[in-house]
Parts: sequence; structure tokens; C-alpha cells
Amino acid sequence: MTDDVDVLLEAVLSVGRGPELEGTLHRVVQTAADVADARYAALGIIGEDGRIAQFLTAGLSEEEIRAIGPYPRGRGLLGELIRHPVPLRLPDMSADPRSVGFPAHHPPMRSFLGVPLQVHGRPFGNLYLTDKRGGGEFSPHDQRLVEALASAASVAVENSRLYDEATLRERWARGNDEISRRVLEGDPPELVLDAVAQEAMQVAGADVAVLATVAVDQDDHLQVRSAHGPGTEGLVGTLAPLEGTFAAEAYAAGRPVVTHDAASDRRQTISFNPPSVVGPLAALPLGGPGRTSGVLTVGRRLGTPPFPRVVIDALAAFAAQAAVALELAERRHDAERLAVVRDRDRIARDLHDLAIQRLYATGLSLEGVGRRLQDRSDATADAERVGRAVTDLDETISLIRTTIRGLQPSTGTVRRVGLRARLVAEVDAASHALGFTPALHMAGPVDTLVPPPTADHLVAVLREALSNVARHAGAQRVGVELVAGDDVVLTVSDDGRGIPADARRSGLANLERRALELGGTLTVASARPGTTLCWRVPLDG
Ligand SMILES: Nc1ncnc2c1ncn2[C@@H]1O[C@H](COP(=O)(O)OP(=O)(O)OP(=O)(O)O)[C@@H](O)[C@H]1O
Ligand SMILES: [Mg+2]
Repeated sequence: MTDDVDVLLEAVLSVGRGPELEGTLHRVVQTAADVADARYAALGIIGEDGRIAQFLTAGLSEEEIRAIGPYPRGRGLLGELIRHPVPLRLPDMSADPRSVGFPAHHPPMRSFLGVPLQVHGRPFGNLYLTDKRGGGEFSPHDQRLVEALASAASVAVENSRLYDEATLRERWARGNDEISRRVLEGDPPELVLDAVAQEAMQVAGADVAVLATVAVDQDDHLQVRSAHGPGTEGLVGTLAPLEGTFAAEAYAAGRPVVTHDAASDRRQTISFNPPSVVGPLAALPLGGPGRTSGVLTVGRRLGTPPFPRVVIDALAAFAAQAAVALELAERRHDAERLAVVRDRDRIARDLHDLAIQRLYATGLSLEGVGRRLQDRSDATADAERVGRAVTDLDETISLIRTTIRGLQPSTGTVRRVGLRARLVAEVDAASHALGFTPALHMAGPVDTLVPPPTADHLVAVLREALSNVARHAGAQRVGVELVAGDDVVLTVSDDGRGIPADARRSGLANLERRALELGGTLTVASARPGTTLCWRVPLDG
């Protein structure tokens, strides 16, 4: 009796030696085999589906385990103990009618002792002992020892579970901190996404993690943004249809999708390569139902324990949190881009309003000097030089114009400024070169009626018309009028010297082409004095 107490005490102490659940369970199996003198021992942990979700063994070598193949899921005798959690002792397993036999390459086993393990009164798993050493069967005494061990083990298991949960929570909190820190420090979204995937891998004890978000211009596809772990090389940037994958299902449902064995499931992993690498898998939506922005998928190698419920819960919360972080990071990025765009806008405006106008003015005065020099016979060379300088200036101006166009955001990427405001700005800008401010008059719902492409044309037309007045007309006054109705009509009239009959048209020809393109017309009436340019295009609807 004293012996038994010693054995048990030793056993219980050994079981409770380390805090992690995995280690505790291994020690339980080994200790059970020791106290009952069994050649083989196993611990089957019952999953949420009432079948064996994890199977730990003692007495079998790695090669033997590999040769046997997939662990039992709980049919036959092992299932009997799940359905009826009471100790079961048999002299010969194979003689029992409930036995389903062994797979090929399974060592022969005769005697059997099964004892249920309960934690907090709930079945947790079963201890299976086989092949009493020295032949014969397990005795009632063996059974009592293992039962005593089982009840002691349940305490150790519960402690380890709590410990694991606490550790998980701590790891998870650290993961969230890390992500928040990155967002606050202004890391670009891609780095935040990487951090999310990596932290998730840590929290879940996963081997691979893939994070995908809805593709920007293909909303029926997910695009991989971050991928970690073996078999995920080269995945970043690839597209996967939002159909037929675990990720697609999690995305559509807005809640986690979990499987014990992705390799034998008809649904596809988003692209773990080769797919057989992954057994347990969990796909978690980023954001809640109806506002999911992507999916985080984590996987473990084939044959490893499934993700416990607490891990899934932690991951789901983590993914939801990550969605918020991600949105913040993206917004911030957008804001920064907008700031850059604004800055460029300002530079473009300054170039246009200040640099170009100053160059025009310099060009004009140089032209004056050139004309005076031409009248002097001793200065033809200087006149030519000045003429070349003016040509250079013109080229510089057109170079700057090109630069300005490059600086200005392309259509559609940023909030558009209304046409009204753009025309006011254009007139404003021209007043430097003109030396006076044109009178501007607008009629009709200009901002709402004129479509963006037409508005872009109108701005260009007005710019050219005003530039012509500044350069060629020598006018005192300019009137600009825009009327939006069935048509949109821009009229620019000046009181200058009028267009010479033999004038070669270049800018004006462009204006005409712009009008024809939209099914409209350009008319230029030269009254000498005065020029009136009228650009008219129809408005649809
Ligand atoms: N408002 C105006 N008053 C007087 N003359 C004008 C006016 N607009 C145009 N012209 C004359 O008509 C010509 C053709 O104008 P157009 O805009 O087609 O070419 P440009 O201004 O000379 O060259 P670009 O537009 O390529 O800079 C000008 O060279 C100028 O002589
Ligand atoms: Mg011109």
C-alpha cells in the first residue's frame, strides 16, 4: 500500500512538473504507462465534434507512428469510451465485438485498459493502455492506480489549460500592442499587415499565415498582401477568387471557418503550396459581417493538434482588431498622399502663376529690346542673340507647362475642384500676364452640369485664349463668359488689335480640335479692333 502511495505521489508530482498543457499531457501518458506497467499508452483528447482531436502516445517510436498513418478518430473501442466514459478492462481487445481492428503496420496489442479523463466534471479525453508487460491482463489494481492518476491529472490539465490561456492572452495583448505601435508610428499599411500576420502566427502557434484583402479593382478576388511560413513564398500580390476557398467562406460569412484537416477538405486553402502541408486551418475575417475587408488564414502542419477554441477566439478578436488598425494605417497613408498631392498642387500653381508669368514678362521686354536693336544696323548680331533668347524662353515656358501637367494629379485620384473655382483661378492667374484682371461672368449650374472631361477642356481653352490675349492682342479689357445650359459656351472677348488675316494658327487649331472632339464648334471673330472667341460644345442629357 505504501508502495502504491509512493508510486502515485511520484506520478502526480511528475505530471504537474511543467506548466504547459502539451508537456503535461505527454507526462500523463508516460506516467500512466509506468504505473500500470503497460507497453503502450495513449491519450486521446476529445474535440468539439465528439471525436478524437488529438492523440498522444507513449511506447511507439517516431517510425512506428509514421508507419501506422493517421491517428484514430474514435471508432471501435476507443469510441466506446467516449460514448460511455467508464473504465474498461479487457484481456484481449481483438476478441471484443466492438473492436474495429488495427490498420496495417500497427503493432499487435492484446490486453486493454481504458480510463476516462474528466476536467471540471466534463469528459476531456481518455487514457488507453495496452499490452500489460509480462503478458496477461491489467488487474483491478492497475485500474485503480490509473483512475487515481487520472483524477490527479485532471487538476494538472486544468492548471495547464489556465496557464496556456493566460500565456495566450498575454501574447495576444503584446501582439495588439505591437500593431498599435506600428500604426501610431505611421508605418505604411504593408508593414502593418506583415505585423498582423506574424503576430497571428505567434499567437496561434501556427506554421503558416496568409493575409489577403479584397483586390482593389476586382472585388470578387482576394489579393494576398502578406504571407509567412514554408510554402508561401511568392504568394504576395497573387489573386484568388472569392469562391471555393476557406478564406472566401470566412469572408462571405463574416465569421471564422475552422477545419481539423485542410488537406482532405474539398475547399481550397488560399494557396498554401503544396496544400498538403496544412492540416489544421483557421480562416478569420478582418472586420465584422457585412464590412469585412479581408481574411487572415493560419495553418498548422499536417498531423499537428487542431487550433483549440480559445486560440480561435483569440485570433478572431485579433483579426477584428487588426482590421481597425489596418483601416487606420490606410487612412493615414491616404492623408499623407493627399498632403503630397496638395503640395504638388501648390508647386504647380506657383510655377504657373509666378514662374511662367515672370518668364512671359521677361520675354515681352526682351522682344521690345530686340525690335529696337533691329532698327540699328550696327546691332544685327545682338538682335539675333536677343531673338534666340526669346525663343529659348518660349521653350522654357513650354517645358514648365509640361512639368506642371506632370505635377497635377491625374483625373479621378483625388477630390476634384469644381469648374467654377478652376475658371476663377485661371482668370486670376492670367491677370499677371495681362496686367489687369479680366471680367468673369458665369451663368447656369456650371459645376453640376459640366462633366469632368469637358471641364478639363474648358480650363485648357480659357488658358490658351487668355494667353493669346496677353501675348498678341495688346488689349485694355477682356471679358470671359461661361454659360451652361443645353450647350456650354465659353466666350472670351478683348478690345485688342485683332487677329491678322495671315495669322498661322497653332493654339487656336488645338482649340478647334477640342471642340470638334466633343461635337462642338469654335468661332473666332476678329473685328479689328477686338477679337471674340467662342467655344461651344453640347451637354448630354
Ligand atoms: N486675342 C488675339 N488678339 C490678337 N491676335 C491674336 C489673338 N489670338 C490670336 N492671335 C493671332 O493669331 C495667331 C494664332 O494664334 P494661335 O493661338 O493659334 O497661335 P500662337 O498663339 O501664335 O501659338 P501658340 O498658341 O502655339 O503659343 C497668333 O500668332 C496671333 O497673331
Ligand atoms: Mg496661342
